[in-house]
Amino acid sequence: MSPNVISLKAAEPHQDLIIAPPTTGLTINGRIQVPGDKSISHRALMLGALAEGETTIAGLLLGEDPRSTAACFRAMGAEISTLNTERVTVRGIGLGQLLEPSDILNAGNSGTTLRLMLGVLASHPGRFFAVTGDQSLRSRPMSRVVKPLRQMGAELWGRQEGAYAPLAIQGQSLKPFHYHSPIASAQVKSCLLLAGLMTEGQTTVTEPALSRDHSERMLKAFGANLTVDPETHSVTVTGPTRLKGQPVVVPGDISSAAFWLVTGAIVPGADLTIENVGVNPTRTGVLEALLLMGADITQENARTVAGEPVADLHVRYAGTGDRPPLSACTIAGDLVPRLIDEIPILAVAATVAQGTTIIRDAAELRVKESDRIAVMAHQLNQMGARVTEQPDGMEIVGGTPLVSTEVDSYTDHRIAMSLAIAALTATGSTTIHRAEAVAVSYPDFVATLEQLCAV
Ligand code: S3P
Repeated sequence: MSPNVISLKAAEPHQDLIIAPPTTGLTINGRIQVPGDKSISHRALMLGALAEGETTIAGLLLGEDPRSTAACFRAMGAEISTLNTERVTVRGIGLGQLLEPSDILNAGNSGTTLRLMLGVLASHPGRFFAVTGDQSLRSRPMSRVVKPLRQMGAELWGRQEGAYAPLAIQGQSLKPFHYHSPIASAQVKSCLLLAGLMTEGQTTVTEPALSRDHSERMLKAFGANLTVDPETHSVTVTGPTRLKGQPVVVPGDISSAAFWLVTGAIVPGADLTIENVGVNPTRTGVLEALLLMGADITQENARTVAGEPVADLHVRYAGTGDRPPLSACTIAGDLVPRLIDEIPILAVAATVAQGTTIIRDAAELRVKESDRIAVMAHQLNQMGARVTEQPDGMEIVGGTPLVSTEVDSYTDHRIAMSLAIAALTATGSTTIHRAEAVAVSYPDFVATLEQLCAV
């Protein structure tokens, strides 16, 4: 290891990550693995808890977000073994059988835990639930699920008429409903499909563009009566239904792999393989955007594991001499939901690309774990980039070298990791404040960064 490239410093109650690349340049190569997919990990724990019989989960993400999901469902009677990556066992309690918890359910930083769980709780007649989250989650909009759930007959209360957690829920028998969602959101879609499991009749969600479809795939595997109309981006669940426990194998998270894909694309001479990454087409927008920018990325060893496509991703630095490794592109429209979580790291890639990268139709970024448009624009500009904030995206003029400074994660895991990768291309030493946020989705991020920078 080169101890002075990557170091951590306590800044109680937070942690600083300090990145000081050598002046002679880094050599990034080798083979690495990324932790389990966050979206699939949440769903495996939840469906396992709601199913009858045993679910086993291999490759679970051990981040703080899935831990929040496990804690909530344990509090409602599901038996979930100690979380580990080898084999977690979930003894489900059966749909409609969740116990009324004796305390407030806390989803921590996790929007997926809270929004998906609301569909489950609202459709459990006769039980009362109270839910909350951390400061970031309590400021994120819940009306997007509260409103359609109320149209199904759900009873929910919260601040500003149910717009924000903490929320209280009195479970009910719901009415089936066809919801035309104004946003392409897998959390909204999944929340309503979960509510539909216990609801007699057909619950349909139509979205304006296709969002990630892990819920659809896993619900089908667990035996739900579910149909998909790809033409209209509609999914229908017919209830009431029963779920049966299944073995789940969680692939590596492409959202975590994205940090290394961009590292490989922007660090001169890099040659990196990221093994066992989920390449579900509803998630591969980041690959398309990087290929559009001229990155050298190939998929190897393509296979299907437990209903999800998986591959090894091989990335090689494509710059030569004075030619930059990437060129600018436009990211907009239906591509956006397929790379929504990767926009912060794609913004980093855009800072080294030739030309002006335009990101639009991405206003959703403003209501993620932080306002990712404002935070990324401000933090990258602190580092010397040329980023202009737009209401629904950013414009990034590439090619200005980044310089050392102090930046802040705003407690957002993906911002912390994106800034760390940006720092690899900056001259001098960059300090990232509140870097402990990485543990939400990638507890081993710093260890892998150290491993790569030591080769
Ligand atoms: C997720 C869906 C996306 C994504 C989030 C995880 C999921 O959110 O940003 O990190 O697991 O369903 P939206 O549904 O709000 O777009």
